[in-house]
Amino acid sequence: MKILDTDFDQQNMYIETLRQMNKLNKYKAYVKTYGCQQNVADSEKIKGILHEIGYELINDVQNADLIIYNTCAIRENAEDRVFGNTGALKNLKKQKSNKTIALCGCMTQQEHIAQKIRESYPYVDLIMGTHSLHLLPELLYKVIVSKQKIVEINHRCGLLPENIPIYRSDSKKGLVPIMYGCDNFCTYCVVPYVRGREYSRKSSNIISEIQEMVNNGYNEITLLGHNVNSYGKGLSENVEFATLLQTINALDGDFKINFMTSHPKDFSKRLIDVISNCEKISSHLHLPVQSGSNRILKLMNRKYTIEEYKSLVDYAKDAIPDLVLSSDILVGFPGEMVDDFAMTKELIKYVKFDFLYTFIYSKREKTAAAKMEDNTPLEEKHRRLSELLDLQTSIHSNLK
Ligand code: 5AD
Ligand code: SF4
Repeated sequence: MKILDTDFDQQNMYIETLRQMNKLNKYKAYVKTYGCQQNVADSEKIKGILHEIGYELINDVQNADLIIYNTCAIRENAEDRVFGNTGALKNLKKQKSNKTIALCGCMTQQEHIAQKIRESYPYVDLIMGTHSLHLLPELLYKVIVSKQKIVEINHRCGLLPENIPIYRSDSKKGLVPIMYGCDNFCTYCVVPYVRGREYSRKSSNIISEIQEMVNNGYNEITLLGHNVNSYGKGLSENVEFATLLQTINALDGDFKINFMTSHPKDFSKRLIDVISNCEKISSHLHLPVQSGSNRILKLMNRKYTIEEYKSLVDYAKDAIPDLVLSSDILVGFPGEMVDDFAMTKELIKYVKFDFLYTFIYSKREKTAAAKMEDNTPLEEKHRRLSELLDLQTSIHSNLK
């Protein structure tokens, strides 16, 4: 379902009504963000809406009239943290029952989680998914004024309207989402289920947002998307990520451009050439490889081989002399054998990443990997993880 401009006009009416109420009472709001930069960017929109409504944004949960947790679902421990922190709000709500508590984001987009919150945390007033952010004024109105308990986790399209106000957390470094959602369905990953299909923003909207930020003194712009390299897919204009980067690079002003996250399968040598030729684009590439074993990469549905990955990295090292390379590694994917893990270690020795983000595989509901047999004990996965950390440390101490 497409989001219509009329929806937005309606939201403005709710904003106005709530603003009148806040004028009298000077309500305070606390927004906590879990997870990735995409969530940080969403929270800047949530805060933008709250600011419009007249809330004072504070960093102290105890004194807030409205508490919003913007949650992450990527791994079980991220969800456990939210459950723990939500449990701790019970007493706050007891002390002051007119506090409003809202949970939103990737975790609450999942039906089984929304259900669990309903049952185990009944003092949560609003449960909202990733597709409803622009409806926040209306949902808050219904919760605060009409005293309704609301669960709003409908799947609309992943694209948010362009005119949501943004309350940026930094005055120099800014986040600019260029696309939402993911179509890749890596078998371990919950993102396609909670963020929906890929939608790219029109390039003209991205460019004017960046130009305005640069005019206002921003000197570091990070372009965001779960798979920035497939930017442009589905748009009526003929634009791809490399072209977008060139256009942004040509804008007036003194600023740097970062981007994340990239997918090796869509990362072309042409893109590397563009990066090396554009002076404003940062030479930091985050290129998640996940595993060094072709067998595991196939099971993960990553759609590239280690040989292709190495060739891409070799090309980037040649083309970008001051290249800084980082990656994500997933340890203990179902069926990962000692031999597969050895191949991951070999890859790390070969590439010598500047930074590595390492994670133990966490089973996620609905994903294909959740149905795969997983015989490796958790202690062994922890052992492999610490082996990787030791390896990375030793590579770096030898480089010094
Ligand atoms: N378990 C553990 N790590 C995961 N990631 C994504 N899904 C999972 C999961 N189910 C990691 C991947 C990805 C990073 C953002 O999070 O390495 O690149
Ligand atoms: Fe998840 Fe894969 Fe999409 Fe990244 S590319 S968000 S790992 S499904």
